[in-house]
Amino acid sequence: MRRTPLYIIPLLAVTILILKGCGMNPRSVSEESELDRKVDSVLALMTLEEKAGQLTLLTSDWDVTGPTMRKEYVEDIRSGRCGNIFNAHTVAYNRNLQKITVEETRLGIPLLFGYDVVHGHRTIFPIPLGEACSWNLELMEKSARLAAGEAAASGLTWTFAPVVDISRDPRWGRVSEGNGEDTYLGSLIAAARVRGFQGEDLSDPYTLAACIKHYAAYGAPVAGRDYNTVDMSEIAFRQDYLPPYRAGVAAGAVTVMASFNELFGVPATASPYLMTRILREEWGFKGFVVTDYTGIDELRAHGVAADRRQAGILALTAGVDMDMQSAIYMETMQGALEDGSITLEEIDRAVKRVLRVKFQLGLFDDPYRYFDDRRESSVVHSQEIMEHALQSARESVVLLKNEAFKGSAILPLASPRRIALIGPLADNQVDLLGSWHGAGDIDQVVTLRAGLMNRYPGATISYAPGCGFEGDEVSGFGEALRLARSSDVVVLAIGESQARSGEAASRSELGIPGVQEELALELIKTGTPVVVLIMAERPLVFPLLNEKASAILYAWHPGTRGGDALADILSGNYNPSGKLVISIPRNVGQIPIYYSAKPTGRPMDPGNKFTSKYLDVPNTPLYPFGYGRSYTTFEYGETGLSSESIGRSDTLVVSVTVSNTGATAGEEVVQLYTRDVVGSLTRPLKELKGFQKIYLEPGVSKRLQFRLTAGDLAFVNGKLERMAEPGEFRVMVGPDSAHLEEKTFTLKE
Ligand code: BGC
Repeated sequence: MRRTPLYIIPLLAVTILILKGCGMNPRSVSEESELDRKVDSVLALMTLEEKAGQLTLLTSDWDVTGPTMRKEYVEDIRSGRCGNIFNAHTVAYNRNLQKITVEETRLGIPLLFGYDVVHGHRTIFPIPLGEACSWNLELMEKSARLAAGEAAASGLTWTFAPVVDISRDPRWGRVSEGNGEDTYLGSLIAAARVRGFQGEDLSDPYTLAACIKHYAAYGAPVAGRDYNTVDMSEIAFRQDYLPPYRAGVAAGAVTVMASFNELFGVPATASPYLMTRILREEWGFKGFVVTDYTGIDELRAHGVAADRRQAGILALTAGVDMDMQSAIYMETMQGALEDGSITLEEIDRAVKRVLRVKFQLGLFDDPYRYFDDRRESSVVHSQEIMEHALQSARESVVLLKNEAFKGSAILPLASPRRIALIGPLADNQVDLLGSWHGAGDIDQVVTLRAGLMNRYPGATISYAPGCGFEGDEVSGFGEALRLARSSDVVVLAIGESQARSGEAASRSELGIPGVQEELALELIKTGTPVVVLIMAERPLVFPLLNEKASAILYAWHPGTRGGDALADILSGNYNPSGKLVISIPRNVGQIPIYYSAKPTGRPMDPGNKFTSKYLDVPNTPLYPFGYGRSYTTFEYGETGLSSESIGRSDTLVVSVTVSNTGATAGEEVVQLYTRDVVGSLTRPLKELKGFQKIYLEPGVSKRLQFRLTAGDLAFVNGKLERMAEPGEFRVMVGPDSAHLEEKTFTLKE
């Protein structure tokens, strides 16, 4: 690209001042305008080519997270054509790239280093969907904070996380990266993770810039196929899918990633409605928008751009600031400016947003602030992060079933003498890390086998994989069955490999892959009690196994300390407390299935043919949203309301007493839902509006209070305004979305 010295305004004195020591974290209005002033003064020095460089993000060749690679990225950095890099990490490597920029480019504007720190960096926490099952916002915030600390210590400045896409379709592999089906819970988690990654002060070298993705509605592809079209009403979009992105922006996320999908007939990457109207005008977002991998180039395949140049014009004018991996801004910006298809103002607007984040990160103060070798060795796998990975894994596991076997519940396994450990996930490290484990350290993973050996030092633990993940090979069954017959208990770890989950891993069948379920059924037939651990990144479909098995734990892909966490749960050293954040269907035909369904004009009635139901399967899922058992039992007292009606500025206090009626201490997630009985639009049968996770010793009761205001009852009406309508409401409290006690109140005019 030809240089255009026309735009260079020589403010050398200001440059030196800015480039050497003006990094800051804006808080007050005067700090904000000071920041704008500094950004402007850098902008004034830049050529058009340098501007396009700041709007360009290229992958290194360390990791492959998309379909293309640009081998010459180091040369692109050196020539100032690329101002941001992703998929490169470690202090040594990134310091060297930063050095090239600082010492060899004209202005030395520091690089941003982005990476998918989705659920940990070197120490890996459970997949986000699993961790969301903890319903523990503080825990999730801390995971993000510790992950940021590790990643920042490895020379990174920016994570492409959190993923906040609501998804109600487990055929979509990326359901694993988000927080499940519910908008309210998903919004709270989005904000918690942003706070965790970014901390109080972005210039703190233990934090990362967060990126809310994938904006917007990426979690609802038609038929669950990744990258497919999204088609929904604007009311559903604004009511169910949009709020978590907004919550992330409101929590201060400084970047947002445009999603691959189209919405309302326009690919997100070319959508002024999403990128300018909603994000900037409605929400006041001040950070920058980055595309997803080759998102701009893909506008040609979407059929809205005839060529790369037009694709770049569409993206920039829509309000997309940074081009990830298409190299289109780099190649076509000059021509598009010269022929008047884009304006200098549009380019400058985008560049300013990028520079602003670089200032906020403190990179202009010290471009090397993230490169400290000593910090890297002390932070990575620190005791604090390893302990947190254990706690996070414990809290993510959901106990689905724990029936009596010969008189007493199978779990916990008090002191088994002989354990048969079976299954492809029983002695496995990499798959416990899950998809998007980035730079996760495979060697550090505690397998289930190692976890059990630590937990039961006196027991004989015999191991056989039994079968692989895929295929129809049953030759390992014999050995597995032999071990089962000669043991007191079978611990069976089956599910999905991490490669079968995550991006580009949609499936049309959701059974447990290969012959794993067959193996499980054979093991159950031996008469030895079998504990089934399902490790997967999405709800799988397993009705037959569910019927036959006495004990089932859904363990997701639990991360670095997975084996220890599972051994703690199996032994009763930790009492399971996870609750599902996504429904587990009975079969694929029920999908999408979610608890917050609308009523229909013909509600299901088993005695009436002409009602809304299936002939071959109930309407309900196998396990509902919010469900999860404990080794103890909790009893709910009657729900109390502070009043039978409230006005628009009043607060309704909902109270309930929860008691631990079993013999073990445990945690319970107490959930509150509402229903708007008659509205100007149809309203869901249930909507989560509050929850509290409490810990109770045996025999102890606790009185809980929830507060509801008119704001909590608001919804997106026909004019696309969020408003509560007066009338009758139901409030429901209970342990999950299917077991609720109901009361009624009125919202007055
Ligand atoms: C994914 C993004 C990710 C990006 C960079 C894409 O394929 O959709 O989630 O951040 O690659 O690795």
